Amino acid sequence: MILVVGSGIAGLTAALVARESGAEVVIATKGRIDDANTTHAQGGIAAVVSPDDTHASHWADTLRAADDTADPDAVMTLVEDGTDVIAWLMLDCGVVFDRDADGRLAQGLEAAHSHPRILHAGGDATGAEIERALIGAVRAAGIDVREHTALQDLLLSDGSVVGARLMDSSGRSVDVGAEAVILATGGCGRAYARTTNPAGATGEGIAAAMRAGARVADMEFVQFHPTVLADGEAFLVSEAVRGEGAVLLDDHGRRFAFDAHPDGELAPRDVVARAIADAMAKQRGRPVLLDATGLGAEHLAARFPTIDRAVRGRGLDWARDPIPVAPAAHYLMGGIVTDIDGATSVPGLFAAGEAACTGVHGANRLASNSLLEGAVFGSRAARAASRYRPTTVRSAAPIRPGRSARIQGDSADDFDREALGRVMWEHAGLERDAAGLDLAADRIEGWLSDLAEPSSVADIEDLGLLTVALEIVRAARTRPQSVGAHHRSDPALVPTAA
Ligand code: SIN
Repeated sequence: MILVVGSGIAGLTAALVARESGAEVVIATKGRIDDANTTHAQGGIAAVVSPDDTHASHWADTLRAADDTADPDAVMTLVEDGTDVIAWLMLDCGVVFDRDADGRLAQGLEAAHSHPRILHAGGDATGAEIERALIGAVRAAGIDVREHTALQDLLLSDGSVVGARLMDSSGRSVDVGAEAVILATGGCGRAYARTTNPAGATGEGIAAAMRAGARVADMEFVQFHPTVLADGEAFLVSEAVRGEGAVLLDDHGRRFAFDAHPDGELAPRDVVARAIADAMAKQRGRPVLLDATGLGAEHLAARFPTIDRAVRGRGLDWARDPIPVAPAAHYLMGGIVTDIDGATSVPGLFAAGEAACTGVHGANRLASNSLLEGAVFGSRAARAASRYRPTTVRSAAPIRPGRSARIQGDSADDFDREALGRVMWEHAGLERDAAGLDLAADRIEGWLSDLAEPSSVADIEDLGLLTVALEIVRAARTRPQSVGAHHRSDPALVPTAA
């Protein structure tokens, strides 16, 4: 049996492809099956689907946005497989993408793409449509789905993963044996005070993989989305809105984004996020304005119905007035190290989607490559997991890895998620320096040392958040140079004026 943990695009794709390969499959997911980051994805899924676009162009855009830190071979796999995976989503799973007046697939433009190649559905409800279709396909395939079932730990035998300990919402744990486990548990945006991620993005899959000895990498590369509504709870305003022509203004009504990059509002995401943070610093922290008034009320409502509802629900009329926006934590580009077939450094353990680090994003992910990544590498991980045959002789009783003995400390204050969010936002956010990162590490180590063995799903999430947050901080501390989304502002590193 293959155990898939998580039910976003990577997990559901993995489950379906593993089933197509003939495997018995079980999906365990922490909340309802549709409680996944994928459901909230707006902008779309980037892929080469028209004859005037090329894989070479999508590949070059992905590498350029990543400041040339992405793995070129992994990126080629992403963009080449991407075309086929779109056909699979449409034809085998029934995903309905938007079409233009001529009946051709509508393709939008987003930042740092040199070609309009972003497929979308329901205007700005792309993730919800993909999730709907994949859930339908999973149900039709008769796959066993265990909702409200969280991953507590992986089970090991002779250094290989042989199953998982799962916990239900009443705190009852059960051990499940599996030939292979595919982690598709997403990221950990909830470690930050401001995030676009839903409540479940708490990093426990990555944390469990680390306890099982899996390698993680690039954890300092946390992407901050530039334009998140800064009025009440954070709400993403898709990159596609700028792709359609909306512009960013400071308090003086000036388009400041061109100060940072010749592509202005359509520069790579890390550049625009930092330009906004800089503009906000100059205006005492007040959010900047996203001016979409040029797009017209009718077009805004038709092309961006979800955002339109959210904006108007807050009493804002974005067809008439610019709206306040600010960056928020959005996506973890690092994660559990895998090869292009989802294999981690631990036999029997595979990972895909945001939880994994294939190297396709490097230090800065290209807009709308994340849904594509989930489908492409979820599919590849499923095929590899189906082929996987354990080679070691397994000991009778699987063991559960213990917590790390490195962590020793005593917290000066009680752990709560808001405090963690503030520490991460302030010291491991858009700008980092050594002193702030040391302070954050101390606080998090103290909190971690106080955590008891999880006896509830909330405890598992706390352990996930703190484990992954500490890894982000440590990784950021060991990279003194700024690159992509990782920006160091240490006084000694900032060049002095001549
Ligand atoms: C967006 O719609 O701006 C988000 C898409 C992404 O994260 O790539």
